[in-house]
Amino acid sequence: MQKFYITTPIYYPSGKFHIGTAYTTALASTIKRYKKARGFDAYMLTGMDEHGQKVQKVAEGRGKTPQEHVDEMAEEAKKIWSLMEIEYDDFIRTTDERHTKVVEEIFDRLMEQGDIYKSEYEGWYCMPCETYFTETQLVDGKCPDCGREVKKMKEESYFFNMKKYADRLIKFYNDNPEFILPESRKNELFNNFLKPGLEDLCVSRTSFDWGVKVRKDPKHVVYVWLDALTNYITALGYLSDDDSLMKKYWPADLHIVGKDIIRFHGLYWPIFLMALDLPLPKQIYAHGFIMMKDGKMSKSKGNVICPEPLIERYGLDAFKYFILREMSFGQDGTFTPEGFVERFNFDLCNDLGNLLNRTIGMINKYFGGEITSYPTNISDLDKELEEFSKNSIKQVEEQFDTYHTSNAIIETWNLVSRTNKYIDETTPWILAKDDSKKDRLATVLYNLIEGIRIGTVLLRPFIPETTEKIFKQINTDNTSYDSVKEFGGYKSGTKVGTPEVLFKRIETK
Ligand code: MSP
Repeated sequence: MQKFYITTPIYYPSGKFHIGTAYTTALASTIKRYKKARGFDAYMLTGMDEHGQKVQKVAEGRGKTPQEHVDEMAEEAKKIWSLMEIEYDDFIRTTDERHTKVVEEIFDRLMEQGDIYKSEYEGWYCMPCETYFTETQLVDGKCPDCGREVKKMKEESYFFNMKKYADRLIKFYNDNPEFILPESRKNELFNNFLKPGLEDLCVSRTSFDWGVKVRKDPKHVVYVWLDALTNYITALGYLSDDDSLMKKYWPADLHIVGKDIIRFHGLYWPIFLMALDLPLPKQIYAHGFIMMKDGKMSKSKGNVICPEPLIERYGLDAFKYFILREMSFGQDGTFTPEGFVERFNFDLCNDLGNLLNRTIGMINKYFGGEITSYPTNISDLDKELEEFSKNSIKQVEEQFDTYHTSNAIIETWNLVSRTNKYIDETTPWILAKDDSKKDRLATVLYNLIEGIRIGTVLLRPFIPETTEKIFKQINTDNTSYDSVKEFGGYKSGTKVGTPEVLFKRIETK
């Protein structure tokens, strides 16, 4: 069986999880489910990035030890992922011994190899971002990433010799044009960082101690990004007694990250891996941000939205549908209450909910709930619907396989709309008035329910809870991905279930 290893970034335990972080995780879980449905042995990793000065500060501010703080936050994370029915296989924390031990070892090894050397670092440090910047990188004297104040700092540090590997990375980029998605992000990394020449990276700190200590020089802790990035392999048991997962799943097939951290994943991570003599991940996809009307979500602006209240009020799938539909490949998307209500009412209630409700209603009304016959006299309209459905499946696959997940939803929705249109074209309520058209009516209703079945299978990776409800209402267990390849998989003679409203309209007044 072909494997598929997918990862999310590991999250900072610095505050509440908002819909941005929820998006990254929901996206990874959706892609995993799709790959599983396509027959892959898919494995998903998520976790927490628990070291660093900022975490130490936040913990102090709460009157807790860093460990107490991160333990609580890890529980919070697990709670929200469970609420969101995220299908992860492992949850790594950078404070896990299985991780820290290996990070120590990696650091030692890189030092022995001469890739890491001791020197002195002076630069502009942004505390919230835990990143040093050079004078020229600053924007108006402030942090180029978050816009906050930076402080001039100097410390004895270990450095990683990036220059040694830069040419190999350039070659790798040229040989693997789809290594970084979207292409625009790859070009950015290439033109702004690789071409001008990569700077060596400072990989240790002495200004705080909440981190993995450098074995041979314990006043240093390992720089948080070297610590964090290696989670993708420590979770698989790299350099441990049992590295069977490493053998099975590495290299990662897809690292999903937000655009703000593509620099670390697209430049430093591959170079660390080269230094460790490990294969590089196959692809790294940088998605955009969920924006609010007034710009980026941030605690200081007070415009942070958390997933819990949305899920509580409108249901998990309404929330997931919205974020997954609204965020186009690599682009930012905007969250507005109006946009949310619109998608909910138009897409979920009208298009999907009504299609199901009308169809089951008609089957109940005209045939006592039973799909009586397999289609007989196939008309052009029927053939068109069948062709449309086959084409939709092809399109969905194309979009999903290139991680254009919102397009995959749009393609599925086109099938939902086409099926709705089929009702208007075939006018079952008129057919029902004429006894001689009973066979035709049965065929039309069969095609409708089969269209629904196929659309539902395609929607399953996105909104599994709703799709289970639909399968129950149409009373089918023929729900495998392969079963939709041929039109006609719905078993005739089936009695449908009771119609139930999937989504209740939100009254906007
Ligand atoms: N700890 C690092 C990642 C280390 S990975 C080896 C980190 N953590 S984070 O908690 O700050 O962010 C985690 C992810 O959430 C990032 O991919 C980031 O882009 C994403 N998002 C944070 N805000 C977001 C939005 N508003 N919208 C979409 N994603 C956002 O970075």
